[in-house]
Amino acid sequence: MNNIIRTINLTKKIKEVTIVNKININLEQGDIYGFLGPNGSGKSTTIKMMLGLVKPTEGRVEINGYDVWKDKKKALNSIGAMIENPSFYDYLSGYKNLELYKNLYDLPKTRINEVLNIVGLEKEKNKKVKKYSLGMKQRLAIARAFINYPKIVILDEPTNGLDPVGVVEIRNLIRDLSVKENINFIICSHILSEIQELCNKVSIINKGELISEGYVKDLLNQEFDEYFIDTSDLQKAKVILEKFEVVKSISIHDNIIQINIDKGKIGEINKKLALNDIDITSIKKKENTLESYFLSTL
Ligand SMILES: Nc1ncnc2c1ncn2[C@@H]1O[C@H](COP(=O)(O)OP(=O)(O)OP(=O)(O)O)[C@@H](O)[C@H]1O
Ligand SMILES: [Mg+2]
Repeated sequence: MNNIIRTINLTKKIKEVTIVNKININLEQGDIYGFLGPNGSGKSTTIKMMLGLVKPTEGRVEINGYDVWKDKKKALNSIGAMIENPSFYDYLSGYKNLELYKNLYDLPKTRINEVLNIVGLEKEKNKKVKKYSLGMKQRLAIARAFINYPKIVILDEPTNGLDPVGVVEIRNLIRDLSVKENINFIICSHILSEIQELCNKVSIINKGELISEGYVKDLLNQEFDEYFIDTSDLQKAKVILEKFEVVKSISIHDNIIQINIDKGKIGEINKKLALNDIDITSIKKKENTLESYFLSTL
């Protein structure tokens, strides 16, 4: 497998309390990887172990095959990150803040304007950071995370505190970067819809335990289609549907029929009910979301 980041039984205990427990996750080339879990589930602690900022109690992290703790320099040279609540020199401009990193990584001067352009801060680049809005600071932090041409960028809660427009802008920026700069992302978030929109692969952690890891399309792809049927002939419809082989289960809640059926068979259901003179007011499909999946795993 073409693993870029791999954690092996990654564990962190602080004073006998297990904060991260034997986590195994895999990021492969091309992934935008979502790392999802409720507040306090251990996301940031895991990320900090990936970045060599916190030492694992047990297990390890490998980046491009190098152990982050034993071979830190080689492991981390292709990685950029934004950890929770990024900080800057407030009294310096956005440009000057990035200039410090240009010097640190010995990058060409043109790279500063290049990244400021990509994140859409070119007009505000000479403003002091203390005059930046929260969204502008998030953009600057993302610019800083990829200024040194990393192959992997880890973003911890990149849309924290942003309004809906800001959230969409950051999401588009991440998608853009993944294509234009060929960056693999790990996005940490407790917002399920955000991960569902953006990521192809996701792991879910809760109380330090990995609950599941997989491709979003697989997690959302359930065995049966679920529909809600609204009709005035409730009992008659139920009797007919119960006998129909494509129907796997049926129940009635609040005067609505709820059915699980073989995939793609709703047309046959519709036809059957029509042929039996059942008057249908509406048929609605239940769309699967990561949220319903997540709740089903708890
Ligand atoms: N240095 C520390 N000392 C003691 N406990 C800690 C320490 N760092 C984290 N914890 C605890 O470990 C748990 C996981 O914290 P972590 O910050 O990794 O969660 P998170 O998933 O990032 O949460 P959030 O969504 O709120 O950012 C929390 O209960 C937290 O209080
Ligand atoms: Mg966190």
